[in-house]
Amino acid sequence: MTPAFDGERFRALARSLTLGRECVVTELTSSTNDDALAAARSGAPHGTLFVTDEQQRGRGRRGNTWHAPPGEALLVSVLLRPELPPERASSLALVAGLAVRAAVADALAAAGVAMTVRVKWPNDVVVEKRKVAGILVESQMLGEKLGAAVVGIGLNTGRLELPPEVAARATSLAALGASVTREALLYAVLSELEVRLARLEGHASPLSTLVTELSEHDALTGERVTVGELEGTASGIDERGNLRLLDAATGRTHTVTSGHVMVKGWG
Ligand code: BTN
Repeated sequence: MTPAFDGERFRALARSLTLGRECVVTELTSSTNDDALAAARSGAPHGTLFVTDEQQRGRGRRGNTWHAPPGEALLVSVLLRPELPPERASSLALVAGLAVRAAVADALAAAGVAMTVRVKWPNDVVVEKRKVAGILVESQMLGEKLGAAVVGIGLNTGRLELPPEVAARATSLAALGASVTREALLYAVLSELEVRLARLEGHASPLSTLVTELSEHDALTGERVTVGELEGTASGIDERGNLRLLDAATGRTHTVTSGHVMVKGWG
């Protein structure tokens, strides 16, 4: 059986970090995002972390449920109190996506696995077209301002128990041949996140600081995609975190602010 997440081991690793100074570890909870949102309402500080082995009501975007067998995924929510305009909060999913991407790429490289890890707009991390992690950002307003943003990350580390139709679209670090402890992985993700959050702070166009990195690791550029009613070729992510979609028939480039992306030829 996979050992429970070891809070002491993680704290020892993460001493140098700001994120995770306050860290609540549970074996079972409803949803770490709910835990973090409740803590935000009670005034918990920036960087408070909620980690669990198992969720009863883990959720994803668009009302989806997020399921992972106990101990087989890194399930974590980080409470942030960023200096960001409220309409920019959703771009934190891309910022976290880059952080997770970097941590996963390092874990695969350390295991000698030569595979490309990319960010799939707006909130997934994929390894060669298969989802390894999903991110859910939920915000809390304080008057007109962004009071808190909770960044929930589900990163498949171990065994996957998925119906066959989903199995073709998902993967895990273990399935790819990398074994890394969840404590070390969380430390890596948070270190990568801290660096990128520091770059956003006080910037008039926060995501512009990460546009180059996003374009280097964008899973969708050049792919034929459908988002709702729109169809076209993905042509990058702009500095507001929107997806650009080129409609070859009209020559028009659409700016997509949200939605679910279906990629032609992916599982
Ligand atoms: C998605 O792919 O739609 C996003 C999935 C996000 C899942 C994580 S698991 C930890 C945190 N708690 C939740 O209830 N959801 C997020």
